[in-house]
Amino acid sequence: MADILGKMRRTHNCCELGSKDTGKEVVLMGWVQRRRDHGGVIFIDLRDREGLTQVVFNPDYESKTHSKAHEIRSEYVIGIRGKVEKRPEGMINPNLKTGEIEVFVSELKILNEACTPPFLIEDSVDVSENVRLKNRHIDLRRPNIQKNLILRHKSAASVRKYLNGLGFIDIETPVLTKSTPEGARDYLVPSRINPGMFYALPQSPQIFKQLLMISGFDRYYQIVRCFRDEDLRADRQPEFTQIDIEMSFVGEDDVMDLAEGLIKNLFKDVLDKDIQTPFLKIPYSEAIDRYGLDKPDLRFGLELKDVSDIVKTSGFKVFSTVVEKGGIVKALNAKGCVGFSRKEIDDFTAFAAVYKAKGLAWIKVKEDGWQSPIAKFFTENEKQALAERIGIETGDLIFFVADQPKITNDALGHLRNHIAQKLNLIDDNVFNFLWVTQFPMIEYDETEKRYQAMHHPFTSPLEEDFELLKETPLAVRSRAYDLVLNGSEIGGGSIRIHQKKLQETVFETLGMTPESYNEKFGFLLSALDSGAPPHGGIAFGFDRLIMILCGGSSIRDVIAFPKTQKASCLLTNAPSETSKAQLDELCLRVKTVKL
Ligand code: AMO
Ligand code: AMP
Repeated sequence: MADILGKMRRTHNCCELGSKDTGKEVVLMGWVQRRRDHGGVIFIDLRDREGLTQVVFNPDYESKTHSKAHEIRSEYVIGIRGKVEKRPEGMINPNLKTGEIEVFVSELKILNEACTPPFLIEDSVDVSENVRLKNRHIDLRRPNIQKNLILRHKSAASVRKYLNGLGFIDIETPVLTKSTPEGARDYLVPSRINPGMFYALPQSPQIFKQLLMISGFDRYYQIVRCFRDEDLRADRQPEFTQIDIEMSFVGEDDVMDLAEGLIKNLFKDVLDKDIQTPFLKIPYSEAIDRYGLDKPDLRFGLELKDVSDIVKTSGFKVFSTVVEKGGIVKALNAKGCVGFSRKEIDDFTAFAAVYKAKGLAWIKVKEDGWQSPIAKFFTENEKQALAERIGIETGDLIFFVADQPKITNDALGHLRNHIAQKLNLIDDNVFNFLWVTQFPMIEYDETEKRYQAMHHPFTSPLEEDFELLKETPLAVRSRAYDLVLNGSEIGGGSIRIHQKKLQETVFETLGMTPESYNEKFGFLLSALDSGAPPHGGIAFGFDRLIMILCGGSSIRDVIAFPKTQKASCLLTNAPSETSKAQLDELCLRVKTVKL
């Protein structure tokens, strides 16, 4: 078959030509964004990943190509040869990089036809995300998504360059492996050669990177895919990418300094933004106390105030009973919001209920006193104390939640973000970084009725809390740190346990027997016993970081082929059923279930 391109080869991309090129003969190739037929003259906006160039088919210039141009439709792939001409005065398009010129076509090759696209290839296209994902190869032609993926590429290159320069070594770790405990469910892969046995896809390379430190590699990194079977949200995908880092002979500050340097360099490289370092550090307990969440958005105030001590003896039984039972009562002052309607307050109550708050008490602070369903229950002294603690002024609207600490903090912490958005308190141009440190080592899982590691079980406790491991494990603080950017957790890491004995104690505290931890993590324990250096590291959520760099709100917009909320790929229809032959080969039988 003859080569359809013949001798035609591109000389420029579709965003390159300007008035300096006037008179040049050029060859462009790309997709037809738009065809406009102005009586005799046909204009085409030719698109490639770099941009658009207007090409002109004029019957007076070249009549054969002009008549062929009538066949061209949107998304056809064409190649043109032609001459760059300055556009006439008044026809210059200042919104287009190539807007000062147009190319007069002397030769046209239609390289491929295209069926009518399901939606226009434009950023502002109004079409459901499902339709876009089903036609992702076309969706990916939209300039914004192309921009996002190019920025992602540049970011990866910047990170690699930075880490390579500091002596980090990029080492690949297995994808077919054993369960790595990061708190989600595993994706399993059946082994044909070992019937009835399964690999787990890694939730992270955690154990392998620790083994690499034990092997003496000193500084490791990898931009690596991780797999977690968990409930999906706008910032969570079943497979996602981490910038994974591990370092030997370091403490928390060394890892944080490295991470800050990497971020500073990245923002300079891809956005030309100067990020101020060091970042603010606050312990977990303070983050929860002041903001209710372990990933607070510090671009605005609205701090929570604990008022348990003031209301514990009050006449409002909901509050006093909660405090009596070990719960807390906290307040959020929505400054100047006295004008919010009943309907708006009801909406906030429904919002808080999503986080399990059983109610949302409120006080409107008017010129002539407090308006509130609960004000009557407080004495003048209590009112005075509340006013001082919460910083109450005329015009304010105060919200209260009374519950177990976790629910109170969670509900008010999220309400705080919600109200800030509603009040437009958030400056989208600010990048606010924050380290949250000293996470509790262990938490109690109410559903499973057992202790579990808050970060992962290889995280070292704070040395001064070692003693507490046996008696009060929930009080033990860890050497874990999270990096928060504008209220989103973009990274997390820790200094690890590097001694076998301590690792065994932690496994036991988590309720594991020596049989079970030896079976699951025996290889790590013997490695720790073979000369393990003190080590620690961090992993950044690369997709989340890129999402924020792109100013987006969903990581699906920075992943070429993402999955839906139901963990499926609408383009390829994965996951899908498999053949009986394949199942037989794997010695698997599928149980039919009704969903
Ligand atoms: P962690 O579990 O905190 O730590 O993960 C690190 C970062 O990865 C991102 N992330 C996700 N992004 C998208 N979709 C998901 N499902 C998802 N889950 C996590 C978050 C998170 O901060 N091995 C440890 C790191 C270490 O200790 O060095 C780990 O994986 O931005
Ligand atoms: P009630 O006495 O149930 O009519 O509640 C009076 C007010 O207190 C209402 O505004 C409720 O939303 C609120 N309320 C009820 N339970 C709680 C709670 N646990 N925390 C905060 N406010 C609550």
